[in-house]
Formats: sequence, C-alpha cells, structure tokens
Amino acid sequence: MRKTGALVLAGWLSGVAGQALAGGGPASDDKAGSLHEGKQLYQQYCASCHGIDGEGQLDWQTPNALGELPAPPHDPTGHTWKHSDAMLYRIIAEGWRDPWNKTDRLTMPAFGEVLSPHQIRLVVDYLKTLWTPEQRQHQQEESQDAPFPLVGD
Ligand code: HEC
Repeated sequence: MRKTGALVLAGWLSGVAGQALAGGGPASDDKAGSLHEGKQLYQQYCASCHGIDGEGQLDWQTPNALGELPAPPHDPTGHTWKHSDAMLYRIIAEGWRDPWNKTDRLTMPAFGEVLSPHQIRLVVDYLKTLWTPEQRQHQQEESQDAPFPLVGD
C-alpha cells in the first residue's frame, strides 16, 4: 500500500517536472520548436474553421443564413493583427461572437478548458508568423499596454 503510494507520488512528481520543462520558459527559449508546436495546435484546433493556412471561410465578412459571421482569416487579409495580445488571449480563452450576430451562441468556441495558457500563447505566436512585418510591428505596439495576462503555465 505504502509502496504504491510512493510510486504514484514519484510518477506524479516526474510528470510535474516534465511539464515544467516542456511548458516552462518563454517561447524564445526554443523559437523553432515552439512555433512548430503552435502550428500543430493551430492545425488541430483552429484550421477546420479558420483554414489550413489561416485563409478563413468564404465570404467571411457577410453573415451566413443563420445571421452569423463566418470564421475570419488570420493572414494579412484579416484583422486578427489589429488585436493586442491581451485581446487575442481573451478571444481564444473565452470565445467570441460578433455582437450583431442574429444568434447568441459563441461562434468562436472558448478554448480555455482545452488549451493551457501556454498553449494559447504558442498558437498566437504562430498566428503572428502569418502577418506582414508592418502588421507584426503594429500589433506589438498595441500589446505594449495590453500584454498576455500573467497566468501560470
Ligand atoms: C467552430 C469554428 C471555429 C474554431 C474551431 C475556431 N474558431 Fe476562431 N472564430 C470563429 C468565428 C466564427 C469567429 C468570428 C466571430 C465573430 O466575430 O462573430 C472567430 C474569431 C476568431 C478570432 C478573432 C479574429 C478577428 O479578426 O477579430 C480569433 C483571434 C480566433 N478566432 C482564433 C482562433 C484560434 C486560435 C482557434 C484555435 C485554437 C480558433 N479560433 C478556432 C470560429 C472558429
């Protein structure tokens, strides 16, 4: 009994250490690896709506038959780059709908229960690679007073 307990604890501790290693430092520690992970997360969780290359859904600026706005692009033709890091984090963690949609549901699902704060940042870091240098610069300035929230990984 005691032995099992100790083994379980040891397993738990190594899990915690593993997580700290994987999720610890800022994305810049291993830029290429983090961007790759962000891209994989994007393809797994976001591409079905926002397009494999972030091209968005057809006619994304026109409400569909339900009176809802389709998923917008994340590439330079969209306006994802106009949102600060804080706003992007909030949209992804809490979900989003256009206030003028005819329905009340969140057409952009909330990912706060699916992705860790660190994973949300990785996805946003990946989205930034889709923008032009000018858009990245603008978004960086927007984020100076509205950075990612300070939450644990
Ligand atoms: C089920 C479809 C769907 C999935 C999956 C989805 N989204 Fe969205 N997303 C939407 C829709 C629809 C909107 C537009 C909401 C509105 O403005 O009415 C949106 C809006 C957004 C916006 C705001 C963009 C802007 O220009 O204002 C961001 C950022 C975003 N999504 C990121 C993501 C990320 C990152 C993922 C994956 C973790 C994701 N979305 C997964 C449907 C989806």
